[in-house]
Amino acid sequence: AEIMKGSFPHFMLKEIYEQPESVVNTMRGRVDFANNKVILGGLQSHLSSIRRCRRIVFCACGTSYHSCIATRAIFEELTEIPVSLELASDFLDRKSPIFRDDVCVFVSQSGETADTILAMKYCLQRGALCVGVTNTVGSTISRETHCGVHINAGPEIGVASTKAYTSQYLALVMMALQLGEDRSSMTERRQEIIQGLKELPGKIKEVLNLDDSLKQISKDGLHGEKSLLILGRGYNNATSLEGALKIKELAYIHCEGIPAGELKHGPLALIDETMPIILIMTNDIHYNKTRSALQQVVARKGLPIILCNEGNEGLPEKCKTIVIPKTVDCLSGIMAIIPLQILSYHLAIMNGVDVDFPRNLAKSVTVE
Ligand code: G6P
Repeated sequence: AEIMKGSFPHFMLKEIYEQPESVVNTMRGRVDFANNKVILGGLQSHLSSIRRCRRIVFCACGTSYHSCIATRAIFEELTEIPVSLELASDFLDRKSPIFRDDVCVFVSQSGETADTILAMKYCLQRGALCVGVTNTVGSTISRETHCGVHINAGPEIGVASTKAYTSQYLALVMMALQLGEDRSSMTERRQEIIQGLKELPGKIKEVLNLDDSLKQISKDGLHGEKSLLILGRGYNNATSLEGALKIKELAYIHCEGIPAGELKHGPLALIDETMPIILIMTNDIHYNKTRSALQQVVARKGLPIILCNEGNEGLPEKCKTIVIPKTVDCLSGIMAIIPLQILSYHLAIMNGVDVDFPRNLAKSVTVE
């Protein structure tokens, strides 16, 4: 069936607005909210071998790679298995050692990205257990891995990935929940996250309601700028990178995502009263440290736009804020990326960009 934009002017906007449903589709039939259990059928027969591995290697490109960064912490927390992250292209360049007791997880919306496929073939040859996380049933990566998860976000047409990112993120959190299920010490933590999953679609809708104010912020605060920094920390380190990728891809504005902890190690030199900054400051265990990043920025006369939760007192009065609902810490990156997707959409429109087909980019890069 032909995929239609419906009432939306662009596929990308439609896909942004689909996220309350696409996350439900990722969870459908897999999350048992009454018994706090996650069952991903495609992993079931390999669970015990995955649990026995000595490390998990996440391997991907672009936005898919960011979903790996975003979920690494919760994976390590719930499974107690060390996780390493590999950009497929760099991994291939290095010919990194891979062993039979490694589990390699290949994350790809299309399942056809050449770099990721080559990395998968390399790991298969070395006897690692290979897991595919894709949005495309029948794709090379979903066929050739030993087991895997379909994220079920539905077809994504816009070149810049949006709903696939939030569904990849979610699928990886679900995978961590399932893998960690044998650890009774973490029962409460798993319950807290699974209850958080239940509230996710409603909270995403609340974020979408910010569209008008985000359009205003794009117009008044960001349009016409040549460069922009996005700072985030902990669970939102990946959000800063993914948000910056969206702005680059769509608005053609130079934008850098910077883990807030690295600010003092170099990027601080860029900060003055003219440098546009978005600071992600959600209310989690990293809040106080992110606050000190804010102070460092403000001390250099920077005036960041602050992406935060409700009830954040004591933010500098002059700063514009984007307030999103609070959720469980490890899911906050799903909420926080959406305003950045919307900002990049509006900036693209203001810059006259063909939003669904930004110049020089392809939806699926099938060459090395
Ligand atoms: C291309 C697309 C990106 C995407 C990346 C990885 O560069 O433009 O949006 O994130 O490929 O694609 P994949 O299908 O492997 O997730």
